[in-house]
Amino acid sequence: MSNIEALKKEIVETVQAANDMQALETVRVQALGKKGKVTDLMKSLGQMDPEQRREMGQALNRLKDEITGEIETRAAALKRKELDERLQTEKLDMTLSPRPEQQGSIHPISQTTEEMITIFAEMGFTVAEGPEIEDDFHNFTALNFPPEHPARQMHDTFYLPDAPDSEGEAATRLLRTHTSTVQIHVMQNQKPPIRIIVPGRTFRSDYDMTHTPMFHQMEGLVIDKTSHMGHLKHCLTVFCRKYFGVEELPVRFRPSFFPFTEPSAEMDIGCAVNNGKLEIGGGNKWMEILGCGMVHPNVLKNCGIDPEEYQGFAFGMGIERVAMLKYGIPDLRTFFESDIRWLRHYGFGPSDQPNTALRAE
Ligand code: DAH
Repeated sequence: MSNIEALKKEIVETVQAANDMQALETVRVQALGKKGKVTDLMKSLGQMDPEQRREMGQALNRLKDEITGEIETRAAALKRKELDERLQTEKLDMTLSPRPEQQGSIHPISQTTEEMITIFAEMGFTVAEGPEIEDDFHNFTALNFPPEHPARQMHDTFYLPDAPDSEGEAATRLLRTHTSTVQIHVMQNQKPPIRIIVPGRTFRSDYDMTHTPMFHQMEGLVIDKTSHMGHLKHCLTVFCRKYFGVEELPVRFRPSFFPFTEPSAEMDIGCAVNNGKLEIGGGNKWMEILGCGMVHPNVLKNCGIDPEEYQGFAFGMGIERVAMLKYGIPDLRTFFESDIRWLRHYGFGPSDQPNTALRAE
């Protein structure tokens, strides 16, 4: 019996001395494996007389259980230790910059949008938003695009699979092709007077130096009882002069066509090309900058507003386009390539203020 006690002490000591799972497995095999010390003693039971065999058998089984228990306890401790070590060495400090040598910057789209909002806010406009997934009504019909009108094709619309509308009817869904859709949402839900701007993403299936399938527009809408074309011209002239920081910036309005405005116009700003470089202001060239006009009576009617009582103006421009002109960015596609070198060059610091040199008096 004392043999067994001695053996137990010896094995338990080696178990506790095992410093990793591999060492522990070796100890287990040496004790309980086919040729292990406990197994050898088991084998010797055959030569004993029955009385001794029973006693010895019970003692050996107990020993086996005890050793197995010791090994399990040790294994659990070793696993915990291993895990602790891994947690220590594989620790990630999530607050550290993954690439300390590189710094993010504010994208020109965000900066330009902020600048535009700042100028219009000074003129009393508030910011409105609307959904990017639209139906045919908000994108076309309510904006006075007749059915089958070629202007619907002009927009290179991305259509989505039809989905049931609130009445369970299959309805056309699309990615909005312009922010003019938000004119409709606002007029349906808000009583005039209305004075909003709408910065947002728009989508058209087109891709080259001056087109990307996703781009940004800024829409404007003013509805009240007295606003007229003179207000429209003044408002947009002030905007362009402040945005480009050129006090005497020449502007002109050319007649144009949009289904949702009557009359419609396109606004140009004066510019010059010197040594291949575009300069805003002065010069003898004109650069188209935006579309605008007086809101068509049909659009007001489609939104439940009486055109006999109310009138107003609207305008829309591409945010990338005005950013490219102001900051001399030649290729629209580069806005969305996430090239850190491009961002470092054209991006803005977090403390840069919206750059609107000529502010409201
Ligand atoms: N929605 C037009 C476009 O995407 C831009 C536009 C033109 C908006 C004239 C207007 C407007 O509100 O009056 O091409």
